[in-house]
Amino acid sequence: MSPWVVLIGYNLFCAWAVTGYLMGATQSKEYAEAEWYADLWLVVVWVIYFTLYLRTLARRAEPHIYVANWYYMAFILVVAMLHIVNNIALPVSWAGAKSYTVWSGVQDVMIQWWYGHNAVAFFLTAGFLGMLYYFLPVRSGRPIWSYRLSILSFWGIVFFYIWVGSHHLHYTALPYWVQTLGMTFSVMLLVPSWASAGNAIATLNGAWGRVRDDATLRFMFVAAVFYGLSTFEGSFLAIRPVNSLSHYTDWTVGHVHSGTLGWVAMIIFGAIYSIVPQLAGREAMAWPKAVEWHFWLAVVGTLVYVVAMWNAGITQGLMWRAYDANGALSYSFLQSVQAMAPYYLLRTLGGAMFLGGAVLCALNCRATLHESRTRDLAHDRPLAVQPAE
Ligand code: HEM
Ligand code: HEM
Repeated sequence: MSPWVVLIGYNLFCAWAVTGYLMGATQSKEYAEAEWYADLWLVVVWVIYFTLYLRTLARRAEPHIYVANWYYMAFILVVAMLHIVNNIALPVSWAGAKSYTVWSGVQDVMIQWWYGHNAVAFFLTAGFLGMLYYFLPVRSGRPIWSYRLSILSFWGIVFFYIWVGSHHLHYTALPYWVQTLGMTFSVMLLVPSWASAGNAIATLNGAWGRVRDDATLRFMFVAAVFYGLSTFEGSFLAIRPVNSLSHYTDWTVGHVHSGTLGWVAMIIFGAIYSIVPQLAGREAMAWPKAVEWHFWLAVVGTLVYVVAMWNAGITQGLMWRAYDANGALSYSFLQSVQAMAPYYLLRTLGGAMFLGGAVLCALNCRATLHESRTRDLAHDRPLAVQPAE
């Protein structure tokens, strides 16, 4: 079976889901809005994906399964489990594409956040840790600092993450002890998370010269640093009194993007710049300077975005809880919205820089792959023009 089925099938799922929203077809579950018809299709695509992955793994020449593949397998398997359990629903209308979830009340929200936070763990982290464990040692030419630690942190991440979803539900109708359980496991989760980030950074010991000179490796280094930062921040935000300030504010949005831009996107860029020249049969990208530019646009863009959102969030949180001497609120909600103007402007600027870098990356990839089609790769020269018949 061709991987094209998965690529096209997954994009079809996205298209179905998004067009559904436009027509009002949604389950109203965050990150799981798609209705049952799209959800079922995704299960089919995902099973094909997993089968392809297992068949590839079975055909390996190396008897040992390297840790990157453990993460990759966890990503596919756990996402399937989360998707199926959170989306169990009874369809009630074919034409209206309407269904009701089988989970009710507080169980519904608990399952939703068990799904939601593990989507962070397995959709937005496990596969990318697989990339980090593969591309970083290859690019730096150094073996992973501690292979044993990588396996330990794998099991730590898999075990601890499953319990933390209830940190999204502090001060809700969820039993207090369940919230405390989520908070406690979130703090413990810092240990395996930092073990992974530290392992990656320690691997670069002895290769700092390459980190300085090679923007691709620098992307991976920055990804590991942001992974460490965003997981530290996450464990901190999960602590009940901290969450009472941060929840509903843009601090959460800052945390989200230090993870998704600083960690997920950076490791993707590192992986792209490692693999595209290989696919094109070249030593390096077509425009090496553009990689350097992209790196600085991405790093500065992310920092501007994240720092603006931290300030925005803490300002909002403090404004909402400020009282005057009579016990009345010091600020109206509208005033807190108005106070956001400079931060949102900064976010636009940071986002535009980040996007600019990503566009440069896409053009660079196109140029690199295009040249590979027009060059005689065996002799590294332009292909001879074939005379017309
Ligand atoms: C040790 C690891 C982490 C912990 C303990 C953690 C904890 C948290 C906490 C406490 C919140 C705020 C919940 C709320 O007030 O509603 C949150 C939100 C969020 N985090 Fe993390 N986080 C971690 C790592 C990450 C990473 C690495 C990413 C992304 C790659 C990420 C993505 C998100 C997202 C998308 C949300 C927003 C969820 C929503 O829509 O409300 N987290 N996280
Ligand atoms: C140029 C880059 C990006 C910009 C400018 C941007 C901007 C935004 C904005 C304005 C929001 C809404 C925040 C709000 O509710 O007030 C948001 C939410 C979100 N973004 Fe991004 N984003 C970018 C890239 C990404 C990437 C690459 C990912 C994932 C890999 C991502 C994941 C998310 C998530 C999960 C949320 C929901 C957070 C929540 O509800 O707490 N973003 N983004």
